[in-house]
Amino acid sequence: MKNNDKNKIIIFDTTLRDGEQSPGASLNTAQKIEIGRQLAKMKVDVIEAGFPICSPGDFEAVKLIAQEVKGPQICGLSRAIEKDIDACWNAVKYSKRPRIHIFLATSDIHLKHKLKMSREEALARAVSAVKYARRFCDNVEFSAEDAVRSNQEFLWQVVEAVIKAGAATVNIPDTVGYSIPAEFAVMLMNIFNKVPNVDKAVISVHCHNDLGLSVANSLAAVAAGVRQVECTINGLGERAGNASLEEIVMAIKTRKDLFNVHTDIETKEIYKTSRMVSTLTGIPVQPNKAIVGANAFAHEAGIHQHGVMAEKSTYEIMDAKSIGWQGSGLVLGKHSGRHALKQRLNSLGYTFKEKDLDKISERFKVLADKKKEIFDEDLVAIVEDEISQVIPVYKLDYIHTVSGSQTIPTATIRLRKGDKVIQEASSGDGPVDATYKAIDRITGLKCKLLEYGIRAVSGGQDAQGEVIVRIADAKGHVVTGQGASTDIIEASAKAYLNAVNRLLSPKAVKSK
Ligand code: KIV
Ligand code: ZN
Repeated sequence: MKNNDKNKIIIFDTTLRDGEQSPGASLNTAQKIEIGRQLAKMKVDVIEAGFPICSPGDFEAVKLIAQEVKGPQICGLSRAIEKDIDACWNAVKYSKRPRIHIFLATSDIHLKHKLKMSREEALARAVSAVKYARRFCDNVEFSAEDAVRSNQEFLWQVVEAVIKAGAATVNIPDTVGYSIPAEFAVMLMNIFNKVPNVDKAVISVHCHNDLGLSVANSLAAVAAGVRQVECTINGLGERAGNASLEEIVMAIKTRKDLFNVHTDIETKEIYKTSRMVSTLTGIPVQPNKAIVGANAFAHEAGIHQHGVMAEKSTYEIMDAKSIGWQGSGLVLGKHSGRHALKQRLNSLGYTFKEKDLDKISERFKVLADKKKEIFDEDLVAIVEDEISQVIPVYKLDYIHTVSGSQTIPTATIRLRKGDKVIQEASSGDGPVDATYKAIDRITGLKCKLLEYGIRAVSGGQDAQGEVIVRIADAKGHVVTGQGASTDIIEASAKAYLNAVNRLLSPKAVKSK
C-alpha cells in the first residue's frame, strides 16, 4: 500500500511471527488475539500475525486475528511457493486490510546451500510468486532474505523486478544481524540510487540483533530514507531477536530534531504492551532494557537523584509517562473498595467484565491482607496472572516448605485437578527444588528447569516477588511460566505450575 505521508514511518510489528520464533516463547491462539488487540490499540500499522502454511494452529491464529483485530493491516508470511501463498491468502483475506508477505533468499550462501537454486532461478521465482499473490490482493510485500550478504548488483535486480511484478513493499532484511549502521545506510542509499523504479514501492528493513545492532541499523536505514521498519515488542525474535519496537519508536520521537519523521504509535500504550507480551510469552524483560526495563527510569546515584528532583531534564531525556509508565504510585490498601479498584484498573488501561473483576478483586483482597501498601505494579502483576489464559489443569491448593542451614529442605504440596485433591512431599537441594520435585511427583512429568528468574514487583520489604521459569519436558517441549506472590516460594510454585499447565494445554506447547 502506498505511503502518502512521506515523513511517516510505517511500523510493521512481527511479534506474533518472528517474535514467536524466540526460543521458549509459546502463545496459544487466545493469547495471540489478546496481543493483536493491544497492538491495534497501540496503533501499529501492520501486524504480521503468523506463517499460515507452517501448521494448522498458525493458520487458525492468523485467520482469527484477521477476523477479530480491527485497524492495522493483517499480514501473513509465505515462502515463494503457490501453496504457501494460497494458505496465506485464505488466512488473511478476512481482514479489511490484508497483506501477503513473500520471502525468498537472495544471498549466494542461501541459494547454494539451502535452496539449491541459481540466481536466475531465484529471480524468476520471486517475480512469479509476487505476480501470483497479486491475483489475490494488491498489498503484497517481498522480502529478499539475507539481503545484507547478497551480491548487491543481484539484489538491485531483484528489487527492481519484484516492484515491476507488483510488490507494493520491498523489505531488505539483515537476516543474520551482520551489518553495521554506516554500512547498512550505504547499502540502502545504493538501492535508492540504483533501482530505477524504487519510488513505486515502500522500502522496508528487518534487522536481527546478533551483534546488538538491530535498532541502530534500523535507525540508520530510516535516516537513509526507508519508510517501513519491521520490529517486535521487547525485541523478541529468532536467536538474539529483532529490532525492538519501543526503542525505535521512542528514538524517532525523542530525536525528531534529527530524523524529522514520525510514527502513528500511541506511545502511552508501550509499557502495557511490553508487560503483556512478557507475561504471555513468559520471557522476562531485563531490568536495564531501554524504555521498558524496570530500571529504565530509576535513578540510583545520589547525584542523579538530586539533579532529577531539581530539574527532570538533567538526567531524563524522556518522560516515563509518555510510554504509559505510572511509577510506583501508592494506590490502594486493605480498606479500598471494589469501586476504587475498578477505577484504578481503568486508569491503568484495563477494562474488565464484572465476572473477571470479581476474580481480580478477590486476589486484591488476599494481597491486601498480606501487604500494607499496594502499588500499580502489584495490580499489573495480578491482572497479568489472571489474563495469562493458560487452562489450569492443576491448581495450587496448599504449600508448606521447611528449609534452613541445618535442615534437609522439604516441601509438601497439595494440588487440585478438577474435583481431585492430590498431595505429595519431596526433599530437594533447596525449598524451590523440593517444591518442583513434589509437583513432578503429582503430575508424573519429569521436567527440566532450564531457567529461573525472580524480581521484586514493587518496592518495600513486603513486595510481591514475580518468578519466571523456563522448563522442558522429556520430549523436549519448552515452555515458560510466571507466578507472583508475597511469598517467593509460593511464587516459584505458581510459575512452575503455570508452565506445567502450558505443557498440558496442547495449543500452548511448541516443539523446538
Ligand atoms: O529475518 C528474516 O529475513 C525474516 C524474513 C522472513 C523477513 O524474518
Ligand atoms: Zn527475521
